[in-house]
Amino acid sequence: LFAGEVDFLKGVVAMDGLPPADRPEICFAGRSNVGKSTLINALTGRKALARASNTPGRTQEINYFTLGESHYLVDLPGYGYANAPLDKVRGWQQLLKQYLSGRPTLRRAFVLIDARHGVKEVDEEILALLDSSAVTFQCVLTKADKVKLKDRERVMAQVRDRLSKHPAAFPEIVLTSSEKGDGIGELRGIIAGIG
Ligand code: GTP
Ligand code: MG
Repeated sequence: LFAGEVDFLKGVVAMDGLPPADRPEICFAGRSNVGKSTLINALTGRKALARASNTPGRTQEINYFTLGESHYLVDLPGYGYANAPLDKVRGWQQLLKQYLSGRPTLRRAFVLIDARHGVKEVDEEILALLDSSAVTFQCVLTKADKVKLKDRERVMAQVRDRLSKHPAAFPEIVLTSSEKGDGIGELRGIIAGIG
């Protein structure tokens, strides 16, 4: 993976705008500002492929990227607090939920959790939705560079405990820092193994 083989395909604002379900796809979900777009840039080695910013609510469409000809990578809008007009936020949250529960070719959802904060109530709602849609999901802790080792271990334990209650959860947790590069190679390997 991946630099030369990844390209932006399109931004989608409604379910009928999704590209044909003709290949497996993986998506990146998580609270606003958790680091989804930044992680996609780190994974692909392309600094400005997905647009990131410090304002929660930066990504407002479902952004599709092609990974060679074989897979799609999908950058999702965040859930939870967003710095944007409420009617807009409601629109993209509804789209997000429709996507996560109704995309037949979705092979795995990576659910990003801030390594400082662990799983929040608003995450639980999404994890429950993934369970009920039988979408396998895997948690990725982000911003590892911002936590001390001791706090990190406490958060890992909390996440592990929460995941044990979700049938669709993949048990292995990946700890990452898009800033420092921790876990990026590991996550690339996991993605490369998804058929
Ligand atoms: P929305 O599109 O609003 O849902 O946010 P997002 O989840 O796509 O987050 P985004 O990638 O835009 O990043 C949000 C902020 O977190 C940016 O200021 C990033 O620079 C910062 N950030 C992301 N990953 C890391 C990381 O690993 N370490 C540090 N220190 N900052 C990070
Ligand atoms: Mg984003």
